[in-house]
Amino acid sequence: MIPAVRGTRDILPGETERWAFVEGTARRLFEQYGYFEIRTPIIEREELFAKGTGETTDIVQKEMYSFIDKGGERITLRPEATPSLVRAFVEHALEQSMAVPKLYTLGPMFRYERPQKGRYRQFHQLDVEVFGVKDPSVDGEVIDLAWALVRALGIEHVELAINSVGCPECRPAFTRALVEALGRDVEKLCGDCRRRAETNPLRIFDCKVPADQPIIDRLPHTVDYLCDACRVHFDAVRADLDVYGIPYHVSHRLVRGLDYYTRTTFEVLAGHLGAQNAVLGGGRYDGLVRQLGGPDRVGIGFAAGIERLVLALPAELPVAPPVPDAFVAALGDQARREALALLRDLRRAGLNAQFDYEGRTLKSQMKRADRLGAPLVLILGEDELARGQVTVKRMATSTQEPVPRHEAVALVARERAARRAAATR
Ligand code: HAM
Repeated sequence: MIPAVRGTRDILPGETERWAFVEGTARRLFEQYGYFEIRTPIIEREELFAKGTGETTDIVQKEMYSFIDKGGERITLRPEATPSLVRAFVEHALEQSMAVPKLYTLGPMFRYERPQKGRYRQFHQLDVEVFGVKDPSVDGEVIDLAWALVRALGIEHVELAINSVGCPECRPAFTRALVEALGRDVEKLCGDCRRRAETNPLRIFDCKVPADQPIIDRLPHTVDYLCDACRVHFDAVRADLDVYGIPYHVSHRLVRGLDYYTRTTFEVLAGHLGAQNAVLGGGRYDGLVRQLGGPDRVGIGFAAGIERLVLALPAELPVAPPVPDAFVAALGDQARREALALLRDLRRAGLNAQFDYEGRTLKSQMKRADRLGAPLVLILGEDELARGQVTVKRMATSTQEPVPRHEAVALVARERAARRAAATR
Protein backbone atom coordinates (compact mmCIF):
# COMPACT_ATOMS: atom_id res chain seq x y z
CA MET A 1 0.00 0.00 0.00
CA ILE A 2 1.28 3.47 -0.82
CA PRO A 3 0.09 5.73 2.00
CA ALA A 4 -1.04 9.36 1.65
CA VAL A 5 1.66 12.06 1.89
CA ARG A 6 2.42 13.20 5.47
CA GLY A 7 0.30 16.16 6.49
CA THR A 8 -2.43 15.41 3.92
CA ARG A 9 -5.74 13.68 4.65
CA ASP A 10 -8.52 11.89 2.87
CA ILE A 11 -11.88 13.34 3.75
CA LEU A 12 -14.07 10.29 3.92
CA PRO A 13 -17.81 9.74 3.51
CA GLY A 14 -19.30 10.53 6.90
CA GLU A 15 -17.01 13.55 7.19
CA THR A 16 -17.76 14.97 3.74
CA GLU A 17 -21.31 15.79 4.86
CA ARG A 18 -19.83 18.02 7.56
CA TRP A 19 -17.60 19.67 4.95
CA ALA A 20 -20.57 20.23 2.65
CA PHE A 21 -22.48 21.79 5.55
CA VAL A 22 -19.60 24.20 6.26
CA GLU A 23 -19.09 25.09 2.59
CA GLY A 24 -22.82 25.45 1.88
CA THR A 25 -23.39 27.66 4.94
CA ALA A 26 -20.37 29.81 4.03
CA ARG A 27 -21.44 30.26 0.40
CA ARG A 28 -24.95 31.29 1.43
CA LEU A 29 -23.63 33.82 3.94
CA PHE A 30 -20.96 35.25 1.64
CA GLU A 31 -23.51 35.75 -1.11
CA GLN A 32 -25.95 37.30 1.36
CA TYR A 33 -23.22 39.85 2.23
CA GLY A 34 -22.66 40.63 -1.45
CA TYR A 35 -19.56 38.57 -2.26
CA PHE A 36 -19.01 36.92 -5.64
CA GLU A 37 -17.13 33.66 -6.10
CA ILE A 38 -13.76 33.61 -7.84
CA ARG A 39 -11.54 30.59 -8.54
CA THR A 40 -7.86 31.07 -9.12
CA PRO A 41 -5.15 28.51 -9.97
CA ILE A 42 -3.47 26.47 -7.25
CA ILE A 43 -0.08 27.18 -8.79
CA GLU A 44 1.29 30.70 -9.07
CA ARG A 45 4.69 32.26 -9.74
CA GLU A 46 6.82 31.99 -6.61
CA GLU A 47 7.47 35.74 -6.58
CA LEU A 48 3.76 36.45 -6.01
CA PHE A 49 4.04 35.06 -2.47
CA ALA A 50 7.62 36.23 -1.88
CA LYS A 51 6.41 39.78 -2.57
CA GLY A 52 2.83 39.37 -1.33
CA THR A 53 2.94 37.18 1.76
CA GLY A 54 6.36 38.67 2.53
CA GLU A 55 10.02 37.64 2.54
CA THR A 56 10.29 37.74 6.34
CA THR A 57 7.33 35.45 7.04
CA ASP A 58 7.68 31.82 8.15
CA ILE A 59 5.51 30.89 5.18
CA VAL A 60 7.96 32.26 2.61
CA GLN A 61 11.10 31.35 4.51
CA LYS A 62 10.26 27.79 5.47
CA GLU A 63 6.90 26.53 4.33
CA MET A 64 6.37 26.96 0.63
CA TYR A 65 6.03 24.07 -1.78
CA SER A 66 8.08 25.52 -4.62
CA PHE A 67 9.60 23.87 -7.64
CA ILE A 68 11.05 24.70 -11.01
CA ASP A 69 8.80 23.45 -13.79
CA LYS A 70 9.97 21.94 -17.04
CA GLY A 71 10.04 25.38 -18.64
CA GLY A 72 12.40 26.66 -15.94
CA GLU A 73 9.72 28.76 -14.20
CA ARG A 74 9.71 28.99 -10.38
CA ILE A 75 6.27 27.82 -9.33
CA THR A 76 4.64 27.66 -5.87
CA LEU A 77 1.59 25.77 -4.63
CA ARG A 78 -0.37 28.64 -3.05
CA PRO A 79 0.11 28.81 0.74
CA GLU A 80 -2.79 31.30 1.06
CA ALA A 81 -5.35 32.90 -1.24
CA THR A 82 -4.91 36.63 -0.62
CA PRO A 83 -2.00 37.32 -3.04
CA SER A 84 -3.77 35.26 -5.74
CA LEU A 85 -6.98 37.26 -5.35
CA VAL A 86 -5.04 40.52 -5.43
CA ARG A 87 -3.31 39.32 -8.59
CA ALA A 88 -6.63 38.42 -10.21
CA PHE A 89 -8.18 41.73 -9.10
CA VAL A 90 -5.35 43.63 -10.81
CA GLU A 91 -4.91 41.36 -13.84
CA HIS A 92 -8.61 41.53 -14.77
CA ALA A 93 -9.18 45.13 -13.61
CA LEU A 94 -12.12 43.83 -11.58
CA GLU A 95 -12.89 47.22 -10.11
CA GLN A 96 -14.12 48.24 -13.54
CA SER A 97 -16.51 45.32 -13.95
CA MET A 98 -17.76 45.02 -10.36
CA ALA A 99 -19.70 47.67 -8.45
CA VAL A 100 -17.83 46.79 -5.25
CA PRO A 101 -15.11 44.19 -5.67
CA LYS A 102 -16.10 41.71 -2.97
CA LEU A 103 -14.70 38.28 -3.73
CA TYR A 104 -14.74 34.88 -2.07
CA THR A 105 -13.01 31.64 -2.87
CA LEU A 106 -12.50 28.25 -1.32
CA GLY A 107 -10.02 25.49 -1.91
CA PRO A 108 -6.77 23.81 -0.92
CA MET A 109 -3.67 25.64 0.35
CA PHE A 110 -0.22 24.17 0.99
CA ARG A 111 2.29 24.87 3.75
CA TYR A 112 5.18 22.67 4.77
CA GLU A 113 4.43 22.83 8.51
CA ARG A 114 4.87 20.22 11.24
CA PRO A 115 1.58 18.30 11.09
CA GLN A 116 -0.58 17.99 14.20
CA LYS A 117 -4.29 18.09 15.04
CA GLY A 118 -5.75 21.02 13.11
CA ARG A 119 -2.52 21.68 11.22
CA TYR A 120 -1.87 20.03 7.87
CA ARG A 121 0.38 20.48 4.87
CA GLN A 122 -2.58 20.49 2.51
CA PHE A 123 -5.48 22.28 4.17
CA HIS A 124 -8.49 24.20 2.90
CA GLN A 125 -9.58 27.78 3.31
CA LEU A 126 -12.73 29.80 2.84
CA ASP A 127 -11.43 33.25 1.93
CA VAL A 128 -13.12 36.63 1.43
CA GLU A 129 -11.55 39.89 0.25
CA VAL A 130 -12.96 43.39 -0.36
CA PHE A 131 -11.00 45.90 -2.41
CA GLY A 132 -11.01 49.67 -2.57
CA VAL A 133 -12.92 50.67 0.58
CA LYS A 134 -10.94 52.79 3.07
CA ASP A 135 -13.82 53.45 5.44
CA PRO A 136 -13.56 51.55 8.75
CA SER A 137 -17.17 50.41 8.37
CA VAL A 138 -15.97 47.76 5.92
CA ASP A 139 -13.65 46.39 8.63
CA GLY A 140 -16.69 46.09 10.89
CA GLU A 141 -18.69 44.38 8.16
CA VAL A 142 -15.94 41.87 7.37
CA ILE A 143 -15.55 41.00 11.06
CA ASP A 144 -19.34 40.74 11.38
CA LEU A 145 -19.32 38.28 8.46
CA ALA A 146 -16.58 36.20 10.12
CA TRP A 147 -18.55 36.17 13.35
CA ALA A 148 -21.80 35.34 11.52
CA LEU A 149 -20.04 32.38 9.91
CA VAL A 150 -18.98 30.75 13.18
CA ARG A 151 -22.41 31.45 14.67
CA ALA A 152 -24.26 30.00 11.67
CA LEU A 153 -22.14 26.85 11.97
CA GLY A 154 -23.19 26.51 15.61
CA ILE A 155 -19.56 26.65 16.82
CA GLU A 156 -19.43 27.39 20.53
CA HIS A 157 -16.79 28.75 22.91
CA VAL A 158 -15.44 31.20 20.34
CA GLU A 159 -13.75 34.48 21.03
CA LEU A 160 -12.84 37.37 18.78
CA ALA A 161 -9.45 39.03 19.20
CA ILE A 162 -8.68 42.28 17.38
CA ASN A 163 -5.71 44.63 17.16
CA SER A 164 -4.33 47.45 15.06
CA VAL A 165 -0.81 47.11 13.71
CA GLY A 166 -0.64 50.67 12.36
CA CYS A 167 0.50 51.82 8.96
CA PRO A 168 3.78 52.78 7.25
CA GLU A 169 3.46 56.19 8.96
CA CYS A 170 3.48 54.93 12.53
CA ARG A 171 5.14 51.52 12.15
CA PRO A 172 8.76 52.81 12.18
CA ALA A 173 8.30 54.52 15.56
CA PHE A 174 6.80 51.36 16.97
CA THR A 175 9.58 49.19 15.56
CA ARG A 176 12.18 51.49 17.11
CA ALA A 177 10.41 51.31 20.48
CA LEU A 178 10.27 47.53 20.18
CA VAL A 179 13.96 47.14 19.46
CA GLU A 180 14.79 49.57 22.24
CA ALA A 181 12.60 47.74 24.76
CA LEU A 182 14.20 44.44 23.79
CA GLY A 183 17.65 45.83 24.43
CA ARG A 184 20.11 43.15 25.35
CA ASP A 185 17.29 40.65 25.98
CA VAL A 186 17.42 39.96 22.26
CA GLU A 187 20.38 37.69 22.94
CA LYS A 188 18.21 35.53 25.23
CA LEU A 189 15.64 34.92 22.47
CA CYS A 190 15.53 31.91 20.13
CA GLY A 191 17.50 31.93 16.87
CA ASP A 192 14.38 32.73 14.83
CA CYS A 193 13.62 35.77 17.00
CA ARG A 194 17.20 37.03 16.83
CA ARG A 195 16.87 36.87 13.05
CA ARG A 196 13.44 38.57 13.21
CA ALA A 197 14.91 41.39 15.31
CA GLU A 198 17.16 42.12 12.33
CA THR A 199 14.72 41.65 9.46
CA ASN A 200 11.23 42.50 10.80
CA PRO A 201 11.01 42.95 14.59
CA LEU A 202 7.18 42.83 14.49
CA ARG A 203 7.47 39.11 13.63
CA ILE A 204 8.84 38.46 17.15
CA PHE A 205 5.20 38.45 18.31
CA ASP A 206 4.64 35.27 16.24
CA CYS A 207 7.15 33.33 18.38
CA LYS A 208 5.78 30.22 20.11
CA VAL A 209 8.98 29.19 21.96
CA PRO A 210 7.96 28.97 25.67
CA ALA A 211 11.24 30.38 27.03
CA ASP A 212 10.83 33.55 24.93
CA GLN A 213 7.32 34.36 26.13
CA PRO A 214 8.12 36.31 29.34
CA ILE A 215 10.37 38.63 27.34
CA ILE A 216 7.81 39.07 24.54
CA ASP A 217 5.00 39.76 27.03
CA ARG A 218 6.93 42.77 28.32
CA LEU A 219 7.29 44.38 24.88
CA PRO A 220 5.38 47.56 23.93
CA HIS A 221 1.96 47.40 22.27
CA THR A 222 1.28 48.55 18.70
CA VAL A 223 -1.93 50.35 19.78
CA ASP A 224 0.11 52.73 21.95
CA TYR A 225 2.08 53.93 18.91
CA LEU A 226 -0.72 54.48 16.36
CA CYS A 227 -0.74 57.73 14.39
CA ASP A 228 -3.90 59.83 14.65
CA ALA A 229 -5.45 58.44 11.47
CA CYS A 230 -4.86 54.82 12.59
CA ARG A 231 -6.23 55.53 16.05
CA VAL A 232 -9.42 57.12 14.66
CA HIS A 233 -9.80 54.14 12.33
CA PHE A 234 -9.36 51.60 15.13
CA ASP A 235 -11.82 53.43 17.40
CA ALA A 236 -14.39 53.44 14.59
CA VAL A 237 -13.99 49.69 14.05
CA ARG A 238 -14.48 49.07 17.76
CA ALA A 239 -17.57 51.30 17.83
CA ASP A 240 -19.04 49.32 14.91
CA LEU A 241 -18.42 46.02 16.70
CA ASP A 242 -20.38 47.42 19.62
CA VAL A 243 -23.24 48.35 17.29
CA TYR A 244 -23.22 44.80 15.89
CA GLY A 245 -23.18 43.47 19.45
CA ILE A 246 -20.09 41.34 18.81
CA PRO A 247 -17.98 40.70 21.92
CA TYR A 248 -14.22 41.07 21.42
CA HIS A 249 -11.00 41.77 23.22
CA VAL A 250 -7.94 43.66 22.06
CA SER A 251 -4.98 41.31 21.79
CA HIS A 252 -1.71 43.23 21.76
CA ARG A 253 0.23 40.33 20.31
CA LEU A 254 -2.08 39.87 17.34
CA VAL A 255 0.24 41.08 14.57
CA ARG A 256 -0.49 37.96 12.45
CA GLY A 257 2.19 36.04 10.60
CA LEU A 258 1.91 37.72 7.20
CA ASP A 259 3.77 40.88 6.22
CA TYR A 260 1.02 42.79 4.44
CA TYR A 261 -1.22 43.81 7.32
CA THR A 262 -1.91 47.45 8.12
CA ARG A 263 -4.30 48.75 10.77
CA THR A 264 -7.01 46.19 11.68
CA THR A 265 -6.09 42.56 12.38
CA PHE A 266 -8.41 39.96 13.88
CA GLU A 267 -8.77 36.28 14.68
CA VAL A 268 -11.54 34.03 15.91
CA LEU A 269 -10.33 31.38 18.36
CA ALA A 270 -12.26 28.28 19.35
CA GLY A 271 -11.54 27.36 22.97
CA HIS A 272 -11.92 23.60 22.61
CA LEU A 273 -9.52 23.05 19.68
CA GLY A 274 -6.22 22.81 21.56
CA ALA A 275 -3.00 24.35 20.24
CA GLN A 276 -4.28 25.09 16.71
CA ASN A 277 -7.27 27.08 17.89
CA ALA A 278 -7.46 29.89 15.32
CA VAL A 279 -10.44 29.00 13.15
CA LEU A 280 -10.04 32.14 11.09
CA GLY A 281 -7.87 35.21 10.78
CA GLY A 282 -7.65 38.32 8.69
CA GLY A 283 -7.13 42.01 8.47
CA ARG A 284 -6.54 45.06 6.35
CA TYR A 285 -3.72 45.28 3.79
CA ASP A 286 -3.73 48.80 2.43
CA GLY A 287 -0.42 48.60 0.56
CA LEU A 288 -0.58 45.13 -0.97
CA VAL A 289 -2.40 45.85 -4.23
CA ARG A 290 0.11 48.53 -5.15
CA GLN A 291 3.01 46.41 -3.99
CA LEU A 292 1.89 43.69 -6.39
CA GLY A 293 1.88 46.11 -9.29
CA GLY A 294 -1.74 47.27 -9.12
CA PRO A 295 -3.36 50.66 -8.55
CA ASP A 296 -3.34 52.31 -5.13
CA ARG A 297 -6.26 50.38 -3.67
CA VAL A 298 -6.76 49.20 -0.12
CA GLY A 299 -8.03 45.77 0.85
CA ILE A 300 -9.34 43.72 3.75
CA GLY A 301 -10.40 40.12 4.20
CA PHE A 302 -10.10 36.95 6.19
CA ALA A 303 -9.60 33.24 5.71
CA ALA A 304 -11.06 30.40 7.74
CA GLY A 305 -9.51 26.94 7.88
CA ILE A 306 -12.18 24.45 6.83
CA GLU A 307 -10.50 21.56 8.73
CA ARG A 308 -10.63 23.62 11.92
CA LEU A 309 -14.24 24.71 11.39
CA VAL A 310 -15.20 21.06 10.84
CA LEU A 311 -13.32 20.01 14.00
CA ALA A 312 -15.09 22.74 15.98
CA LEU A 313 -18.60 21.90 14.72
CA PRO A 314 -21.07 20.56 17.24
CA ALA A 315 -21.25 16.74 17.18
CA GLU A 316 -24.95 16.85 16.34
CA LEU A 317 -25.49 18.51 13.01
CA PRO A 318 -28.69 19.22 11.12
CA VAL A 319 -27.22 17.22 8.25
CA ALA A 320 -27.33 13.52 7.57
CA PRO A 321 -25.54 11.36 5.01
CA PRO A 322 -27.67 10.64 1.94
CA VAL A 323 -30.05 7.75 2.56
CA PRO A 324 -31.94 5.96 -0.22
CA ASP A 325 -35.64 6.66 -0.49
CA ALA A 326 -36.15 3.08 -1.64
CA PHE A 327 -34.22 -0.08 -2.33
CA VAL A 328 -35.29 -2.28 -5.23
CA ALA A 329 -34.98 -6.05 -4.68
CA ALA A 330 -35.43 -8.51 -7.54
CA LEU A 331 -35.80 -12.30 -7.68
CA GLY A 332 -35.09 -13.98 -11.01
CA ASP A 333 -33.89 -12.74 -14.40
CA GLN A 334 -37.17 -11.40 -15.66
CA ALA A 335 -37.88 -9.57 -12.44
CA ARG A 336 -34.39 -8.14 -12.61
CA ARG A 337 -35.15 -6.46 -15.94
CA GLU A 338 -38.33 -4.97 -14.53
CA ALA A 339 -36.38 -3.89 -11.44
CA LEU A 340 -33.95 -1.94 -13.62
CA ALA A 341 -36.88 -0.17 -15.30
CA LEU A 342 -38.34 0.64 -11.88
CA LEU A 343 -34.95 1.93 -10.70
CA ARG A 344 -34.78 4.15 -13.77
CA ASP A 345 -38.30 5.52 -13.13
CA LEU A 346 -37.52 6.25 -9.48
CA ARG A 347 -34.29 8.06 -10.34
CA ARG A 348 -35.87 10.07 -13.13
CA ALA A 349 -38.43 11.22 -10.60
CA GLY A 350 -35.52 12.61 -8.55
CA LEU A 351 -35.61 9.87 -5.92
CA ASN A 352 -32.61 8.14 -4.39
CA ALA A 353 -33.05 4.46 -5.33
CA GLN A 354 -30.51 1.68 -4.82
CA PHE A 355 -30.20 -1.87 -6.07
CA ASP A 356 -28.22 -5.03 -5.41
CA TYR A 357 -26.18 -5.55 -8.58
CA GLU A 358 -25.09 -9.05 -7.71
CA GLY A 359 -28.70 -10.22 -7.45
CA ARG A 360 -28.23 -12.49 -4.47
CA THR A 361 -30.90 -14.09 -2.29
CA LEU A 362 -33.80 -11.99 -1.05
CA LYS A 363 -32.37 -12.27 2.45
CA SER A 364 -29.02 -10.80 1.45
CA GLN A 365 -30.75 -8.05 -0.56
CA MET A 366 -32.85 -7.14 2.49
CA LYS A 367 -29.68 -7.01 4.57
CA ARG A 368 -28.07 -4.59 2.16
CA ALA A 369 -31.21 -2.41 2.13
CA ASP A 370 -31.07 -2.35 5.90
CA ARG A 371 -27.37 -1.37 5.95
CA LEU A 372 -28.08 1.48 3.54
CA GLY A 373 -30.89 2.67 5.80
CA ALA A 374 -33.58 2.46 3.09
CA PRO A 375 -37.02 2.99 4.65
CA LEU A 376 -38.80 1.10 1.83
CA VAL A 377 -37.90 -1.99 -0.16
CA LEU A 378 -39.73 -2.57 -3.43
CA ILE A 379 -39.70 -6.31 -4.09
CA LEU A 380 -40.18 -7.75 -7.58
CA GLY A 381 -40.53 -11.50 -8.05
CA GLU A 382 -42.38 -13.68 -10.56
CA ASP A 383 -45.72 -13.32 -8.72
CA GLU A 384 -45.45 -9.55 -8.69
CA LEU A 385 -44.56 -9.52 -12.39
CA ALA A 386 -47.57 -11.67 -13.24
CA ARG A 387 -49.91 -9.33 -11.34
CA GLY A 388 -48.30 -6.04 -12.47
CA GLN A 389 -47.49 -5.21 -8.87
CA VAL A 390 -44.57 -4.63 -6.56
CA THR A 391 -44.47 -5.66 -2.91
CA VAL A 392 -43.62 -2.66 -0.74
CA LYS A 393 -41.94 -3.54 2.52
CA ARG A 394 -41.70 -0.89 5.23
CA MET A 395 -38.48 -1.56 7.07
CA ALA A 396 -39.43 0.27 10.28
CA THR A 397 -42.49 -1.90 10.92
CA SER A 398 -41.55 -4.98 8.87
CA THR A 399 -44.98 -4.84 7.23
CA GLN A 400 -45.58 -5.31 3.53
CA GLU A 401 -48.34 -4.64 1.03
CA PRO A 402 -48.86 -5.11 -2.73
CA VAL A 403 -48.98 -1.90 -4.79
CA PRO A 404 -49.72 -1.57 -8.54
CA ARG A 405 -46.44 -1.17 -10.42
CA HIS A 406 -47.53 2.14 -11.96
CA GLU A 407 -48.19 3.61 -8.51
CA ALA A 408 -44.87 2.61 -6.96
CA VAL A 409 -42.91 5.78 -7.88
CA ALA A 410 -45.64 8.09 -6.57
CA LEU A 411 -45.80 6.13 -3.33
CA VAL A 412 -42.04 6.45 -2.75
CA ALA A 413 -42.23 10.20 -3.50
CA ARG A 414 -45.15 10.63 -1.06
CA GLU A 415 -43.30 8.77 1.67
CA ARG A 416 -40.21 10.91 1.15
CA ALA A 417 -42.23 14.12 1.36
CA ALA A 418 -43.84 12.88 4.59
CA ARG A 419 -40.42 12.00 6.09
CA ARG A 420 -39.04 15.42 5.20
CA ALA A 421 -42.04 17.20 6.65
CA ALA A 422 -41.67 15.18 9.86
CA ALA A 423 -37.95 16.00 10.05
CA THR A 424 -38.51 19.76 9.83
CA ARG A 425 -41.35 19.78 12.34
P1 HAM B 1 -3.72 32.65 8.08
O1 HAM B 1 -3.92 33.09 9.48
O2 HAM B 1 -2.36 32.25 7.67
O3 HAM B 1 -4.26 33.83 7.18
O4 HAM B 1 -4.69 31.46 7.77
C1 HAM B 1 -6.10 31.59 7.97
C2 HAM B 1 -6.66 30.33 8.60
O5 HAM B 1 -6.28 29.19 7.82
C3 HAM B 1 -6.13 30.01 9.98
O6 HAM B 1 -6.83 30.74 10.97
C4 HAM B 1 -6.40 28.52 10.09
O7 HAM B 1 -7.76 28.29 10.43
C5 HAM B 1 -6.16 28.05 8.67
N1 HAM B 1 -4.82 27.46 8.53
C6 HAM B 1 -3.65 28.09 8.31
N2 HAM B 1 -2.64 27.20 8.22
C7 HAM B 1 -3.18 25.98 8.39
C8 HAM B 1 -2.66 24.63 8.41
N3 HAM B 1 -1.37 24.38 8.19
N4 HAM B 1 -3.52 23.62 8.62
C9 HAM B 1 -4.84 23.86 8.80
N5 HAM B 1 -5.39 25.09 8.78
C10 HAM B 1 -4.57 26.13 8.59
C11 HAM B 1 -4.25 33.81 5.82
O8 HAM B 1 -4.05 32.83 5.16
C12 HAM B 1 -4.65 35.14 5.20
N6 HAM B 1 -4.59 34.98 3.72
C13 HAM B 1 -6.02 35.57 5.67
C14 HAM B 1 -6.45 36.86 5.07
C15 HAM B 1 -7.31 37.04 4.05
N7 HAM B 1 -6.05 38.07 5.45
C16 HAM B 1 -6.63 38.97 4.68
N8 HAM B 1 -7.39 38.35 3.80
